[in-house]
Amino acid sequence: MTDKLGSMRRTHHCNDLRSAHIDSEVVLMGWVQRRRDHGGVIFIDLRDRNGITQVVFNPEIEPAAHAKAHDLRSEYVIGIQGRVYARPAGMINPNLETGEIEVLVSELRILNKAQTPPFLIEDSVDVNENIRLQHRHVDLRRPQLQKNLITRHQVAATVRRYLNDNGFLDIETPVLTRSTPEGARDYLVPSRVNRGQFYALPQSPQLFKQLLMMACFDRYYQIVRCFRDEDLRADRQPEFTQIDMEMSFVGEEDVMGLSEGLVAAVFKETLGMDLKLPFQRLSYDEAMDRYGLDKPDLRFGLELKNISDIVAGSGFKVFADVVAKGGIVKALNAKGCVELSRKEIDDLTAFAAIYRAKGLAWIKVREDGWQSPIAKFFSPEEKAALTERIQMEIGDLVLFVADQAKITNEALGHLRNHLAEKLGLIDKKEFRFVWVTRFPMFEYDETEKRYQALHHPFTAPLEEDYDKLESDPLAVYSRAYDLVLNGSEIGGGSIRIHQRDLQERVLKALGMEKADYEKKFGFLLSALDSGAPPHGGLAFGFDRLVMLLCGQTSIRDVIAFPKTQRAACLLTDAPSEAGREQLLELALRVVKDN
Ligand code: AMO
Ligand code: AMP
Repeated sequence: MTDKLGSMRRTHHCNDLRSAHIDSEVVLMGWVQRRRDHGGVIFIDLRDRNGITQVVFNPEIEPAAHAKAHDLRSEYVIGIQGRVYARPAGMINPNLETGEIEVLVSELRILNKAQTPPFLIEDSVDVNENIRLQHRHVDLRRPQLQKNLITRHQVAATVRRYLNDNGFLDIETPVLTRSTPEGARDYLVPSRVNRGQFYALPQSPQLFKQLLMMACFDRYYQIVRCFRDEDLRADRQPEFTQIDMEMSFVGEEDVMGLSEGLVAAVFKETLGMDLKLPFQRLSYDEAMDRYGLDKPDLRFGLELKNISDIVAGSGFKVFADVVAKGGIVKALNAKGCVELSRKEIDDLTAFAAIYRAKGLAWIKVREDGWQSPIAKFFSPEEKAALTERIQMEIGDLVLFVADQAKITNEALGHLRNHLAEKLGLIDKKEFRFVWVTRFPMFEYDETEKRYQALHHPFTAPLEEDYDKLESDPLAVYSRAYDLVLNGSEIGGGSIRIHQRDLQERVLKALGMEKADYEKKFGFLLSALDSGAPPHGGLAFGFDRLVMLLCGQTSIRDVIAFPKTQRAACLLTDAPSEAGREQLLELALRVVKDN
C-alpha cells in the first residue's frame, strides 16, 4: 500500500537544512539513497535534486514511524515529517552540506515503492552504458548527470540572456523542411498528403537564418535541434543542439567578437572563470602545417615539422618517392621518449594506420648516435639538417609519416593528440581556445570526383580569390571561421554570399548545373535578388560546449536521452517497425535485406 500525500506539504529540499534550522519542524520528500540499521536506530539518506539529508528513526522516541521504516528499500519515494537536531559531536559529516544536522522523523509516508534498481545510484558505478541507457530515468538520478543537466540549463539561460541583451531575436524555423546541405546524410520524413514525397529534417537552420536576414530581422538566434545521419562518435549524435546565430551588416570581426563575448559570459556564470579575450587565431594553413589538424589542441607543444625538402633527394626511397609524387614527409618529436619499447612503437604504428598511414618510421637519438631502421639512408648533411629542423636532442624519439598531405597530416595530427594523452602532457583543468580562419573554399572529393564545399556552399570566398573560382577552385580561400576548444570544434560559421551571381558561380564550381541548383536553391537565389543585406553568423555545438564545461568526454553525458552508436534510443526502443496500415497510407513498402 502506498500512502497519499494528504496534509503533508514539503517545506524544504534535501540540501536546505543547516544548523540555523535546529529545532524547526520540517517536511522533506525524496528517494531513499541508503538505509542503515544501527542496533535499533534506522538512518536513511534521503535524496532529491539538490542533495542529501540524513533522517533518523528512533524506536524509543517515535516507535510507529520506526516500525514502518523497516520496510524502506533503495529508491522508495517517501515523505517525512520531523524535527531538525544537531548531530552528536563526532557524527558530523564534513563532506555533506547538510552534515551538521539530521531530522528525527515523527511521521513517515511511503509515497511509492520501487523495484531494486538495476545499478547503484552513485557516480562510481561501473555498469555497461547500454544498461544505463535502458534505464535512463534511473541513471539520470546519479549526481554527476544531475549536475551536467543543471549546468546545461544554466548555459542555455546565460546564452539567452547574453543574446537578448545584444539585440538578437529568438525566431523558430521549420523542422519539416527540405534538404539543407551541411555534408551529412538527411533524415527523411514521408509525406502522407503528398504521396511519394519526403521532408528532410534540417541539418541546420542555415538557409532559414539567411532568409531571416533578408527579411530585415537584423539579428537572429535559436537554441535549436539539428539532425544528421552520419557515423556517430563520442562527440557526435544524430540529433544534437546548436546555438545558432546570424547577423546583418557585419564582417568576421563582429561575429567572432560577439561569439567570444558569449563564451566568456558562459564561463563566468557557470565556472566563475574569467577568459582572456580575444582568443588566439591561426589560419587553416598554419594549423595544418604545425598541428596536422584544423582543430588543433594547443594545450601542449609537440609541433609537426615538414621535412620534405630535406629528404627529397635522400637514399630512403619511401620518403624520396612520396615527395616526388607531390606528397609530404613530416616529423613529430616525442621529446624524451627514447626508451619507448619496440612494442610501444608498434602500437603507435597501428594507431597511425587507423588514419591510413602506410608506416611510421622512427629515429631514437642516443648518446652514441641514431638508432633507427632508416638512419643508414641519410647523408651527414641530411642528418645535420634534420637535427636542426626537428630540434633533435639526446633522449628524443622522432616519428615520421610520408604520404599525400591529407594522410600525413591526419595521421600525425591524431598521433600528436594520442601521444600527449599517453605522456600526460595535458593539463585537464586548462581551457584553450583558438579560432581557425581562412579555410580553403573547396576540397576535391576523390570518390565522387568533384569539388565539395569545406564549410557549406553559402560561405563567401575571399574577395581577392573571386577570379579563381572557375580557373583554380582549390586555390580559393573562404571567409569561414571555426572556434576550437581543447582540440574539439565547438563552433563554426562564416560571412555569407549575398549576391546572386556570386552564389551561382560557387554552385557551378561545385559541379551543379543551372537546372539542378534552380530546383534545389531557387528560393534562396531569388531571395538574394530581393534586397539581401551583407550578413554572416555562426553556430556553436551546444552539447560539445557543455560537455567540455562539465569536464566530460562524451556528449551522451550531457544529453538527457541520447542515442547509441547505432542511433538507437534504448529506453523507448526507437527506431521501430511501422505498421502495415501506416506504410500503406504513406505509400511505402519496406524491402528487407537478406
Ligand atoms: P557546422 O556544421 O560546423 O556548421 O555545425 C556547427 C557546430 O555543431 C556541432 N556539431 C555537432 N555536434 C554534435 N553532433 C553532431 N553530429 C554535430 N555536427 C556538428 C559542432 C559544429 O562546430 N550552419 C552552419 C553554421 C554556420 O555557418 O553558421 C553549421 O551547421 O560543434
Ligand atoms: P621498410 O623499408 O618498408 O621496412 O620501412 C622502413 C621503416 O619505414 C619502417 O619503420 C616503416 O614503418 C617505415 N615506413 C614505411 N612506409 C612509410 C611511410 N609511408 N611513412 C612513414 N614511414 C614509413
